[in-house]
Amino acid sequence: MRTPFIAANWKMNKTTREVEEFFRVFQEKLGNYNRCDIAICVPFPYLGLASSLSPSGTHIHIGSQNIAQEESGAFTGETSATMVRDVGATAVVIGHSERRSLFHESSQDCSIKIQQAQKHGLLPILCIGETLSQRESQETTAVLQKQLRESLANIALTSGSQLVVAYEPVWAIGTGKTATPEDAESTIATVRAELAAIFDERIAQQTRILYGGSVKPSNIHALMEQPNIDGALVGGASLEADSFLQLVQFQEI
Ligand code: PGA
Repeated sequence: MRTPFIAANWKMNKTTREVEEFFRVFQEKLGNYNRCDIAICVPFPYLGLASSLSPSGTHIHIGSQNIAQEESGAFTGETSATMVRDVGATAVVIGHSERRSLFHESSQDCSIKIQQAQKHGLLPILCIGETLSQRESQETTAVLQKQLRESLANIALTSGSQLVVAYEPVWAIGTGKTATPEDAESTIATVRAELAAIFDERIAQQTRILYGGSVKPSNIHALMEQPNIDGALVGGASLEADSFLQLVQFQEI
């Protein structure tokens, strides 16, 4: 049985006051709820604050949205895995489609970043996904297989709990369009099959694979009913504590 994993990706949003307000409400309403693993991935300046305000418990991660490929040194503007870990984060989003498209990150870059994450005790949440034109030309499976093969090259895992994969069709991110639950399920099943080919069947069965792209309280149930969908990576609907709580507590509603 894979424990559901619900991750918030705040992107480049919020101020100190808004971060404090989010955690005040989130902490109060979440209470001891622990039926789901949670990651809240915040902008770099708020990692320390979020770590100090986050409800304690091993099932709640504070994460960054990126890390540098390098350990340290003359890399102006970069933030290392060591620094992210040092301020209390325990997870990191790697290869989000916005990083791939706007900042030209390749799957080879993702592989190096996953190695950095592993080395410094951060749980990597690897994002993959096809664009609309790739989907329309029936390239989805080939695109995802290539992203997985290249991003996971040189990565060793002893358990599937050491990696989370998020399948986010690029055309569904921030657009209000979601893949149908059946579509997302069949694509995620092919992602799991590819993980079995790269690692082995045991690792593939243990790895949480999330769906991302316009997930909200009104569509999470249908997605989570699918056998291969283990959770969600959520942008817009994760910004308000109440709506993110509904997603985290989807089993109760
Ligand atoms: P969205 O973003 O939920 O706003 O579509 C998802 C993501 O980019 O991870």
